[in-house]
Amino acid sequence: MSAPAVVLCRGGAGAVWPVEALAALERRSFSDPWSPLSFEQLSRMPQARLFTLTEEATDATPALVGFALLLSLPPEGELLNLAVAPEKRRQGKGKALMAALLAACREEKIADLYLEVRASNNAARALYGKWGFAEVGRRCGYYANPREDALVMRLDLI
Ligand SMILES: CC(C)(COP(=O)(O)OP(=O)(O)OC[C@H]1O[C@@H](n2cnc3c(N)ncnc32)[C@H](O)[C@@H]1OP(=O)(O)O)[C@@H](O)C(=O)NCCC(=O)NCCS
Repeated sequence: MSAPAVVLCRGGAGAVWPVEALAALERRSFSDPWSPLSFEQLSRMPQARLFTLTEEATDATPALVGFALLLSLPPEGELLNLAVAPEKRRQGKGKALMAALLAACREEKIADLYLEVRASNNAARALYGKWGFAEVGRRCGYYANPREDALVMRLDLI
């Protein structure tokens, strides 16, 4: 099966992101989700990159099934967010989003890519480990609902 097609949208003045769909998928994926306003504000930043995966829904309108967000600050970058719809997981969509995001990082000369992940998030930690991310720090009590540490991970892209 061919890899699903990931679409890249850059942030900045005039960028139009599917903010409501992003926030809806976010709510289904996280216990402390970002608000639509958070996505809206990020969409205004020229350093922001949104990667989306959509599928045709039953009424033939495309439905958002996954997204990833990158903050591009060469030579550093931060993977801000990544989510796949619960019923679409374990089908390679997270992998496809990561592949597109890392290709964009290389194009933008990002040498070090950072991210934070809940210590208990075994699925995401397994995914990031497969791509070569290494744990470089821990932020105590970083997350709310429930309160939990964040692991800071880094991928060396050079
Ligand atoms: C993390 C997440 C994006 C993975 O998406 P996905 O589409 O299921 O991932 P893929 O199918 O591409 O899986 C790629 C690899 O990740 C790992 N992985 C994914 N889900 C896993 C799970 N539940 N348990 C263990 N490993 C898992 C596996 O190594 C997998 O490779 P494999 O299927 O060949 O074993 C998805 O689980 C999700 O949206 N979770 C909720 C939001 C979240 O936690 N985001 C990360 C924030 S830091």
